[in-house]
Amino acid sequence: MAAYEYETHDYDVVVVGAGGAGLRATLGMAEQGLRTACVTKVFPTRSHTVAAQGGIAASLGNMGPDNWQWHMYDTVKGSDWLGDTDAMEYLVREAPKAVYELEHYGVPFSRTEAGKIYQRPFGGHTTEFGEGPPVQRTCAAADRTGHAILHTLYGQSLKEKAEFFIEYFAIDLLMSEDGQCQGVLAWKLDDGTLHVFAAKMVVLATGGYGRAYFSATSAHTCTGDGGGMVARAGLPLQDMEFVQFHPTGIYGSGCLITEGARGEGGYLTNAEGERFMERYAPTYKDLASRDVVSRCMTIEIREGRGVGANKDHIHLNLSHLPPETLAERLPGISESAKIFAGVDVTKEPIPVLPTVHYNMGGIPTNYWGEVLNPAEGDPDRVAPGLMAVGEAGCASVHGANRLGSNSLIDLVVFGRAAAIRAGQIVDPSTAVPLPSKAAIDKALGRMDGLRHANGTVTTAELRLEMQKTMQADAAVFRTDKSLADGVEKMTAVAGKLGDIKVSDRSMIWNSDLMETLELTNLMPNALATVVAAEARKESRGAHAHEDYPDRDDANWRKHSLSRVEGASVDLTYRPVHLDPLTRTEDGGIDLKKIAPKARVY
Ligand code: FUM
Repeated sequence: MAAYEYETHDYDVVVVGAGGAGLRATLGMAEQGLRTACVTKVFPTRSHTVAAQGGIAASLGNMGPDNWQWHMYDTVKGSDWLGDTDAMEYLVREAPKAVYELEHYGVPFSRTEAGKIYQRPFGGHTTEFGEGPPVQRTCAAADRTGHAILHTLYGQSLKEKAEFFIEYFAIDLLMSEDGQCQGVLAWKLDDGTLHVFAAKMVVLATGGYGRAYFSATSAHTCTGDGGGMVARAGLPLQDMEFVQFHPTGIYGSGCLITEGARGEGGYLTNAEGERFMERYAPTYKDLASRDVVSRCMTIEIREGRGVGANKDHIHLNLSHLPPETLAERLPGISESAKIFAGVDVTKEPIPVLPTVHYNMGGIPTNYWGEVLNPAEGDPDRVAPGLMAVGEAGCASVHGANRLGSNSLIDLVVFGRAAAIRAGQIVDPSTAVPLPSKAAIDKALGRMDGLRHANGTVTTAELRLEMQKTMQADAAVFRTDKSLADGVEKMTAVAGKLGDIKVSDRSMIWNSDLMETLELTNLMPNALATVVAAEARKESRGAHAHEDYPDRDDANWRKHSLSRVEGASVDLTYRPVHLDPLTRTEDGGIDLKKIAPKARVY
């Protein structure tokens, strides 16, 4: 290996990633006086949170009655009873506080006539423990809510003197012999220099791995970098088989059309002009949970009722809505529909198709964001020095399926929780331990090996093979055969990483090397997804298995854990947390209300 020089920095906390969760964690750490660095591969306000449209869920009750217990019920049911009860309770109880904090930081929420934060209906959010009408719980800044949150949090973080290292690519975690995370090695993309960030706490806020699939609403930067680093550190990934398809990606481009469009009164139709959701989900119709709507759309297409020349997509109708509603509440998607589908939403329907949107699985954590490294007899063992928040993490509040607008609230509640916890366990008065030379050399060695890789498969070719395999074999509907094929093909695809070819050997703006590093992160995420899916012999949430159409709580109400090494996955399980944080007598949730039952909308 060539001799590499690097600069060493030390901080109390290093946050990797500057999306909603990363910035909320960074801000919270800096507010408490912890010396905090945020290392990010893209400019903070270009992080994928910027694309979040419809809103952020919190039971503010601004538009009608609501409370955290109803939000909890909806989240538990949405998760198809796979979420951890303590984490879900923490999420929904803290949600209103976290939204008011955002308001006070300056997020420009849309307003009601009375000046309160405007809230819209979203799929799966109901009243009266699923017995009442849909609730307006999703707080919105028009249909650019993520954009508004991201800009506000970045400004506030700068005000608190958090330090940003922008366009630095995190290569690997620096782990001690005894499993303590002591920092991260990063590569500064614009000048080719290398940087060791030593830290008492590293927080991974690197987002999801949507780009493991061919068609996704996710940005091209969503390459599961945290999951890749964690897998290489010998730590597990949790519940990776649960991949969410958003019902309304624009046909062809995959761009997101917010669920807020249906929240404002939009509806789906098939080739016969039928509002088919009325047949499948008589109560909540187009506002059923996302996994349900995506499956119904897929069935309509499969049964020959898709629209278009190839009968391969569905129509989303908005033209009946008042033009002022479209202009005021849905300006962003009106523009996207024009640009990416050539459609004027005031006159024509938008062609849409279920599109990969979100990863429920990720790096296992407790509800403080501390990463878990479960061991025999200790399923909640904490991996010291390491946290994960946002889509990169799995707390697990979304279980087998996430409700729309529960992602933005997850980002800020758990970004904030990580900061609260770090304030308790990180001592700013002590020196920062330096990572070992062995750990730094290992990370440099891996980077150097890829930089000089001279095999026969290009990164673009291998990435496409992975994406096509995942799209075909780990889709909305799955079968024993598709999943067995998927495991076989993905094992072969992952094996080809050893035969990768990188053409550019430079260190400055080497996008060939960066995309190769990203591919080495996508691969363990993708492999874990298909292997854990093949093993799960039931249907639950987003995992719709046609050979096992029912949920099987007796055997499968458990989290999968995938430890990925090269092209092989070691699969184990850990129990779902069934205990809430508080009991009914302390004003908590009535457990009978959230007991498992059939999931109908
Ligand atoms: O449809 C949307 O606006 C997406 C929201 C979400 O994924 O939470």
